[in-house]
Amino acid sequence: MRAPTTVLLTGATGYIASHTWLALLEAGFDVVGVDNFSNSSPEVLTRLHALSGRAPTFVEADVCDPAAMEAVFQRHRVAAAVHFAAFKAVGESAEKPLAYYANNVGGLLTLCEAMTRHQVHALVFSSSATVYGKPKELPIREDAPLSSTNPYGATKLIGENILRDLANADPAWNMALLRYFNPVGAHESGDIGEDPRGVPNNLMPYITQVAVGQRARLQVFGNDYDTPDGTGVRDYIHVVDLAEGHVAALRYLLDRQQSITANLGTGQGHSVLELIRAFEQASGRRIDYDIVPRRPGDVDASYADPTLAHELLNWRATRDLQAMCADSWRWQSKNPNGYQTLQTMNAPS
Ligand code: UD1
Repeated sequence: MRAPTTVLLTGATGYIASHTWLALLEAGFDVVGVDNFSNSSPEVLTRLHALSGRAPTFVEADVCDPAAMEAVFQRHRVAAAVHFAAFKAVGESAEKPLAYYANNVGGLLTLCEAMTRHQVHALVFSSSATVYGKPKELPIREDAPLSSTNPYGATKLIGENILRDLANADPAWNMALLRYFNPVGAHESGDIGEDPRGVPNNLMPYITQVAVGQRARLQVFGNDYDTPDGTGVRDYIHVVDLAEGHVAALRYLLDRQQSITANLGTGQGHSVLELIRAFEQASGRRIDYDIVPRRPGDVDASYADPTLAHELLNWRATRDLQAMCADSWRWQSKNPNGYQTLQTMNAPS
């Protein structure tokens, strides 16, 4: 019997990575997770252990630390990496551009250097639909023009360019650049999910926090967009579909020895008001909201043409808006304080 292929996951305890970790184990891969918990909780590891029935192999380390990354590659026979570790808040990136470039670009360079030294040449990179800037045509195809409007988006564009240059320089490299649309939902157990620190920037975690009574009202950023009901339209994708997209991309790299740049979305656009209604139905809770002015930098509509991923990876999103809302709600209602456990909350102060 062949030994399982070991995959390095950076940013492993984050929202998308934790779901991908489970999907990789289910697909028969071994996983080594690396995270410095800068925006995640060690409790994720406990949850992953319970869900998978296996003790996670994990190294607490910063992906920007060359010695720590070298040690990971020395210790484990890594065959491929999925690189999630990055900062991701658009507003914060405008306030702290240096931190964003240092972490997002520096982390990618450090990882690629360690991979080069150890002759590991298969890499899945977390890119984002943000690289399409303000899209001129919908649905968005992978050959659409690229641009960035903030430092976070710029780090994703730079990351893509670094990897393209690397693959051009050395054909041994196979890269999957995956452009995520709007990940929402949670594992169907409700035991892992999205746990933003502070006030959520994104729509779904804000809605779930209103539903659970942590926040009074949602602000809907603008109802004068060029969309059917005037509110912004996005391509929401269930995080488990997204995780399965990573498994499909990894298989493509390892089996076909080819690179790919692909959208991971459903191809369906939904407005803010549609999402609110779907969530109210799934949760039985009312979401009070106010219409407020637009958020700077937001676009009217953004949704993927997901054809390429279907053709090349044989992957497509299968979970609908109802499932996304039901699973987000299960996670939030089972974990009103996210990964902050009762134990922590009751700890003597
Ligand atoms: C945002 C980022 C994008 C990043 C992605 C990561 C911006 C401008 N874009 O995408 O770069 O890759 O998150 O997940 O921040 N909305 C409200 N009220 C809220 C929050 C959002 O009405 O409290 C609306 C927005 O105007 C938008 C939609 O909901 O129409 C989705 O917003 P969000 O979840 O923040 O995602 P994006 O803006 O698409």
